[in-house]
Amino acid sequence: MQLRTTLLASLVGVALAGFVALSTAEVRLPGDHSGYQPAQPIAYSHRVHAGENRMDCQFCHTAAEKGRHAGIPPLSTCMKCHEKIVNKPGSKEPSPEIAKLAQAFKDGRPVEWQRIHRLPAFAYFDHSRHVNAGVACQKCHGEIQTMDAVFQANPLTMGECLTCHRDTNLKLVQSGKPAAAPTDCSACHH
Ligand code: HEC
Ligand code: HEC
Ligand code: HEC
Ligand code: HEC
Ligand code: HEC
Repeated sequence: MQLRTTLLASLVGVALAGFVALSTAEVRLPGDHSGYQPAQPIAYSHRVHAGENRMDCQFCHTAAEKGRHAGIPPLSTCMKCHEKIVNKPGSKEPSPEIAKLAQAFKDGRPVEWQRIHRLPAFAYFDHSRHVNAGVACQKCHGEIQTMDAVFQANPLTMGECLTCHRDTNLKLVQSGKPAAAPTDCSACHH
């Protein structure tokens, strides 16, 4: 009960802070945010890169197996290819989108990608434990390699976390192994 009270207090805090901070999208209230798809500054396509060109997710999201955040690649990663590839896909015409990329790189200016998936601050999530346990990115993010512009495919609510944790533990216990996915409040709220 103590934890619930603390959480509710922090929720009220978040709700109040929300009036000033929500417009910057830095604060996320609990709830199903599936479908969220903010406009991005450059028309980068996961379908072209991770789909058609079969690039590995972790070629760009290098931190996913190491820590809490998967991370967004720096422009230097993009320029490994886009020093040379400057055309629109399937055409000889130069791509204005790649031109924006090259200009930002030349100016030493990071691209302001808009964050899509974000849990409320009172919930704790770490990528590395999931990725190293073999949970596919698509389980939580949907078929990213088919998306031109990324949107949030899953609700990512507490129910979704707990459903997979319970299913995971059931399968582990049935095969004689100890449960590994926590269901106690303090694992995700601390
Ligand atoms: C060539 C680099 C590259 C590859 C390969 C790549 N991504 Fe990304 N990813 C990006 C960039 C840049 C962004 C930020 C722009 C955007 O949202 O599209 C991003 C954004 C995302 C986001 C949204 C992040 C947020 O703000 O919530 C997810 C989820 C994601 N990628 C998952 C994947 C998965 C899964 C794969 C493999 C199927 C993958 N990515 C492959 C570069 C890459
Ligand atoms: C491993 C090589 C590689 C890397 C790394 C790479 N790209 Fe690409 N990119 C490609 C290829 C291949 C195409 C498709 C070109 C074609 O079909 O002619 C492409 C196409 C594009 C286009 C399409 C342009 C248009 O007009 O539709 C954009 C924009 C783009 N990439 C942005 C990025 C960004 C941003 C990054 C870094 C996050 C990145 N690329 C990293 C290989 C790469
Ligand atoms: C078990 C569910 C789950 C899996 C598996 C998962 N993610 Fe995530 N991802 C999330 C959640 C939840 C968030 C929001 C995290 C937050 O707000 O702290 C997120 C956020 C992100 C973000 C944006 C913020 C950040 O952490 O950098 C990117 C990029 C991303 N994921 C990419 C990936 C990639 C690539 C993979 C596979 C290598 C992957 N994710 C696997 C649940 C997952
Ligand atoms: C598709 C399945 C799946 C989903 C969805 C999922 N998890 Fe997990 N989670 C796992 C597995 C498997 C483990 C055990 C990893 C291991 O063996 O170390 C785990 C472990 C954890 C742990 C303990 C390890 C650590 O990082 O401290 C936390 C905390 C956690 N998950 C939080 C979350 C949260 C929060 C969400 C929802 C946003 C979520 N998980 C969604 C499968 C899932
Ligand atoms: C596996 C991770 C996980 C566990 C275990 C967990 N929660 Fe959560 N909880 C979350 C996430 C993630 C959210 C935010 C979901 C969202 O954005 O809607 C959340 C949201 C909440 C909220 C805000 C309102 C709501 O329902 O969305 C409360 C209150 C809460 N949790 C209480 C608890 C209590 C009490 C327990 C223990 C009985 C618990 N949680 C166990 C991940 C977890």
